[in-house]
Amino acid sequence: MILTAKAAVAGVMGWPVGHSRSPRLHGWWLDHHGIDGAYIPLAVPPDRITEAIRALPALGLRGANVTVPHKEAALRACDHVDPVARRVGAVNTLVVGADGSIEGRNTDGFGFMANLTADRPDWRAASGPAVVLGAGGAARAILVALADAGAPEIRLLNRTASRAEGLAAELGGPIKVIPWEDRAAALAEAALVVNTTTQGMGGQPALDLALDRLPPSALVTDIVYTPLHTPLLTAAAERGNPVVDGLGMLLHQARPGFEAWFGRMPEVTPELRRFVLESL
Ligand code: ATR
Repeated sequence: MILTAKAAVAGVMGWPVGHSRSPRLHGWWLDHHGIDGAYIPLAVPPDRITEAIRALPALGLRGANVTVPHKEAALRACDHVDPVARRVGAVNTLVVGADGSIEGRNTDGFGFMANLTADRPDWRAASGPAVVLGAGGAARAILVALADAGAPEIRLLNRTASRAEGLAAELGGPIKVIPWEDRAAALAEAALVVNTTTQGMGGQPALDLALDRLPPSALVTDIVYTPLHTPLLTAAAERGNPVVDGLGMLLHQARPGFEAWFGRMPEVTPELRRFVLESL
């Protein structure tokens, strides 16, 4: 596509940035909507992230996504941080305002919830306890989103208990820490199970979790999307539980940034899923 001088430009800052699917995803939406704009990979080393973020307004960029390892540093480099990103403790989306100020947002929780509700329109976070496995960076946005969506109880389990306890103390709300050893029993009466650990990812062992106590109606999801059908999702589907794969979270979390930079709220369609899947 040939850009005009008025083209809206955004990008993704990462180090390395080559693994990011965001240029493919936003590029597809830009083409699809015929927008005069571009979304570019920006390889920014960690010691230059603040400088790179502060340069966005001067360059006339509309904003950027920030990915590993910059999400925490980005929080400190913004002029304003929205309340969700502040609670999550990480920024993944930067928006340059009309006045040239830089706002930091975190759309991972939006992506997580939008993925579940797009796939399962009848599912409600408020309908029962949620079980969250893992207490790393990815868990934080999900915990905040589930609490905000009215989950009555969030059972948080992590191999390293101190990490789960630290997170529960920091975030407060309905989070209850349960020992990792008790994970099979923690599934009783659950309405949702989320794997945020790296277990089940290609090259890693499967998550070691017996599902016998899980109610048949409980929704099971995984933030791992390589492979799309993780051993956890396969085992859950085999016993008849509804399952939602993690690819949709990646696609949905990108939507609010696209809307802020390019003026259209894009959709996640089966064609887009196929297009992104081809690159995994
Ligand atoms: P991210 O920021 O992407 O969530 P992370 O901070 O490295 O990544 O967290 C990875 C998660 O997977 C953690 O909850 C980790 O548990 P620990 O806090 O005990 O390290 C979890 N994890 C990694 N390997 C695991 C394993 N073999 N069994 C159980 N959990 C594991």
